[in-house]
Amino acid sequence: MHKNKSHSELDKLKTNLEFSLKQSMKNIDSYTHVRGESLYVDDVNVREGTFYAVVFDSPKAHGKIKSIDYSEAEALEGVERIFTYKDIPGDNQIGGIIPDEPLFAEDEVHFWGMPIALVVAKSELIARQARRLIKIDIEELPVITTAKEAKEKDSFINAPRSFNLGNTEKAFHDCEYIYEGETFSNGQEQLYIEAQGSYAEPLENGNIKITSSTQGPTAVQKTTAKVLGLPMHKIEVDVTRLGGGFGGKEDQATPWAVMAALATYHLKQSVKLILNRHDDLRMTGKRHPYESNYKIGLSKDLKILAYEVEFLQNSGASADLSPAIAERTLFHATNSYFVQNVKSTVYSCKTNLPPNTAFRGFGGPQGMFVIESAIAKAASELGVAARQIQEANLLQENDVFSYGQIAKQVEAQNSWDAAKAIFNIEELEQKVEDFNKNNAAFKKGLALMPITFGISFTNTPMNHARALVHIYLDGSVGISTAAVEMGQGVNTKMLQIAAKIFAVNTSKVKIETTNTTRVANTSPSAASSTADLNGKALLKACNSLLDRLKIVASEVLNVSKDSIELKDEFVYCNSEKTTMSWTELISTAMLKRIALTENAHYATPEIHFDKTKEKGHPFAYHVFGTSITIVTVDCTRGTYEFDAVKVVHDYGKSMSEGIDLGQAEGGLVQGMGWMTMEEIAYDTNGRLLSNALSTYKVPDVFSVAKNIEILPLETLGNDMAILKSKAVGEPPLMYGIGAYFAIQNAIKAFNPNYKHKFHAPMTPEKVLISLYNK
Ligand code: MTE
Ligand code: HPA
Ligand code: MOS
Repeated sequence: MHKNKSHSELDKLKTNLEFSLKQSMKNIDSYTHVRGESLYVDDVNVREGTFYAVVFDSPKAHGKIKSIDYSEAEALEGVERIFTYKDIPGDNQIGGIIPDEPLFAEDEVHFWGMPIALVVAKSELIARQARRLIKIDIEELPVITTAKEAKEKDSFINAPRSFNLGNTEKAFHDCEYIYEGETFSNGQEQLYIEAQGSYAEPLENGNIKITSSTQGPTAVQKTTAKVLGLPMHKIEVDVTRLGGGFGGKEDQATPWAVMAALATYHLKQSVKLILNRHDDLRMTGKRHPYESNYKIGLSKDLKILAYEVEFLQNSGASADLSPAIAERTLFHATNSYFVQNVKSTVYSCKTNLPPNTAFRGFGGPQGMFVIESAIAKAASELGVAARQIQEANLLQENDVFSYGQIAKQVEAQNSWDAAKAIFNIEELEQKVEDFNKNNAAFKKGLALMPITFGISFTNTPMNHARALVHIYLDGSVGISTAAVEMGQGVNTKMLQIAAKIFAVNTSKVKIETTNTTRVANTSPSAASSTADLNGKALLKACNSLLDRLKIVASEVLNVSKDSIELKDEFVYCNSEKTTMSWTELISTAMLKRIALTENAHYATPEIHFDKTKEKGHPFAYHVFGTSITIVTVDCTRGTYEFDAVKVVHDYGKSMSEGIDLGQAEGGLVQGMGWMTMEEIAYDTNGRLLSNALSTYKVPDVFSVAKNIEILPLETLGNDMAILKSKAVGEPPLMYGIGAYFAIQNAIKAFNPNYKHKFHAPMTPEKVLISLYNK
């Protein structure tokens, strides 16, 4: 039910945040980050005799390899060896969901940048020089770069998927208004600051250790073992941290690790392979571009009675994670709205682009953009504000999603109402209107964007994790989990959990690297679920140890176990401080030969999904929120600046306000970049044109809104979330979609004849054309 919060309550929310922010813990990496001391793959201490590798890749997007001449390259002084598919002792296959992707091309190439060979030399410079000496002859085949073209030619990755609810055909008969249209959203480069890379070193007995910049250590281990024809236990993967992943290293960190390991396997020497920015941009996949069409039907009172949508996902040349991403598009096709009749279908279209892959939101943003476009179109045709349609359809408690899950602890209406009230929407709208009345050369636009995002890997079997905890005999603590730190602050959260349960100072806790020999068979750090899954496992392990330690204390103090409590590094008995410190407790436990190590496993309860019916309960919970975006468009130039983005976000009960606020701000800005300025461009031959930071513009400190304000919605949190602190990694990205519609509204204020176009990103060129398009 929809609860209204009073203004004084809402003011209290604001002050609560300011207060708690001051108290919250800093990201434990901030100290080494600002001093330049944080370690990345490129910082590993290389062994004497290490070789350096570069990847030789296809200079054409599609064709048959007629011949390759490596002789000149091989003859170059300092070149050790060039590896191709012929050197693979196991399978030349790295496809995760569908086995359709060779590590190295054999007879055909399928995208510009497809790896063909690995050049290994005494230095990276020599390897690069050698790469230029390779001669390749390719017989070109037709190139497909767009999803539409792929669909026309029946070029698909797999069968289409559909989620349906009710009966749209029947419902359209009852609709007062029906609108149809097309949308396009472009790809997006993950642009992690640390490029893809790995370092492989030989251990004894043919074992190999790989240091990788990967979100998925187990994926690297598993695929390396498969390609090398070795059992997994011979491959150890270690990750200290990533200089960003954003989904781009969920699957696509793997090939570079496998290649380095392949060279190590043959040469019995360490091999370092780090892509430079050009190679990384050219060879790796990005967010999937989508071409979609929709049909939306509304009643007289603006209820969306029926919604049909067809998504064409540009998957690239092989599956990679595309099927899972396509699935999440369907999960989020109706965003924060309840629609009784839905028919949604997604086609994963096979093209000759690099395999597109995970990017924050994982297909969800692409789905949400379409329904927001449909609403904007309907609003424009009906001459009402989009927010009236949005508001009339917000998801309520116990509404059903098209995939069968019943919506619980819904905060769609609450966050919407809170955003409107706290930021005084009427006043904001009035200011925009007044400004537009008084200015001819500049126009402002405003848009609201509600978000609802499902938390869990949509593939139920992936939702589990493990943690390994050692308490050392001096009372210090070491923690291993499957969580990969990529800037999102998960290590800080893990540290907070252990420090809280053991009631010790955070300096007593160390977070170890993520390593497959300590925590095995893990899912990647992704789906915003890393802290929930690993945190819950860690909580279990810490609580088991705590229980054991309480027994030790109760025996020594000769009291009942239930009267024991740990607080501020001391044992308390019936709330009274005893003389037994944490350190003494641990040494006592050692003398009593009590195990001070624990390993625990957590699997998300309750979730399930039946793919044969496309129904189930795939998400542990949902995250909600609402943004208000205000933009000023320079109508002479087509350029624009964001005046403000104001957000009310459902963090549950945030366990690390500073980190979570950082995630919300970062996600928002990344979403705004996707919608406004980041423009991936391939030519018709499948060659990447936006192949450098001079031709691919991402938001910087000057291009983000001067006034970003993200306030927490005080909610009960959710027991499935770690310490009721809801997942925050991906959902805020989708607030950025509001930027697109704010710009559209500003254009409309200047050019009343403007017919909305839904073709993202809304670059200044497109704005300028739209301003003067009659
Ligand atoms: N934040 C930073 N700084 N760097 C990243 O690479 N990745 C995002 C998000 N926030 C990312 C980030 C993505 S795509 C996901 S899925 C989540 O963090 C992963 O971490 P979590 O599961 O701990 O939220
Ligand atoms: N999100 C992110 N990554 C994933 C998912 C998901 O739902 N499923 C498989 N990999
Ligand atoms: Mo995030 S796209 O799930 O790595």
